Amino acid sequence: MRTPIVAGNWKMNKTAAEGTALVRAMMADLMAIPEVQTVFCPPFLAVPDVARLIQGSTLAIGAQDLYWEESGAFTGEVSPVMVTEFCQYVIIGHSERREYFGEKDQEVNKKVIAALAQGLTPIVCVGETLALRDEGRTETWVRDQVVAALQNVSAEETAGLVIAYEPIWAIGTGRAATPEDAEQVCGEVVRATIADLYDQATAEAIRIQYGGSVNPGNAEEIMIQPNIDGGLVGGASLQAESFAAIVRSTASAKGLI
Ligand code: 13P
Repeated sequence: MRTPIVAGNWKMNKTAAEGTALVRAMMADLMAIPEVQTVFCPPFLAVPDVARLIQGSTLAIGAQDLYWEESGAFTGEVSPVMVTEFCQYVIIGHSERREYFGEKDQEVNKKVIAALAQGLTPIVCVGETLALRDEGRTETWVRDQVVAALQNVSAEETAGLVIAYEPIWAIGTGRAATPEDAEQVCGEVVRATIADLYDQATAEAIRIQYGGSVNPGNAEEIMIQPNIDGGLVGGASLQAESFAAIVRSTASAKGLI
């Protein structure tokens, strides 16, 4: 049985003070649901304060990005070594980074390898645009993104990481994928690709999240899908009640509470 994982991607929201207040407001509720691994992904400047707040709890913290070099003259970047000081997870290749900051598959792969080398668990994001979906290219697109992200990553490393399937048309739009469509891509595309690249055991072990307009109203029907092991939540992770409700629905959907 894979431990479900729900991560809140705060994106460019919350100062350090606002972030700690948000976490304080839901910590107790989330710690009462240890069956689900809950991860906060604040902006870098809020990471140390949130990390201190949740230290020693069942909750975890993730960065939203990193650079692949360990140190050096890379103004504005944050290295995997710096991230490991506070974080256990790191989001890599989010569609917003790909779209607005020109991040390519090859860079995503370098970041995955660098994160793994420091013992971080990457949450690797993949997903198609509406145009690709309308052209019937979702499966090949997502498969290619998974293959590219995992170049030179071993079966053992892959088994431990997280892939987030986030259809771009569902992000921040209020229009989530149907549970059936999300399950189809997570199972028949992402997990099947891992089985092809490695083996069945690796495919069974890897955790696959769905992301894109997850909210307390649709979380249960999405999380009940067998190939969906949790969610990567944007907007709804910025409010204590809605994020805690999504984590609770995930535990309930998986029959854990
Ligand atoms: P929303 O939940 O706001 O649609 O964002 C999803 C997302 O991009 C999480 O990484």
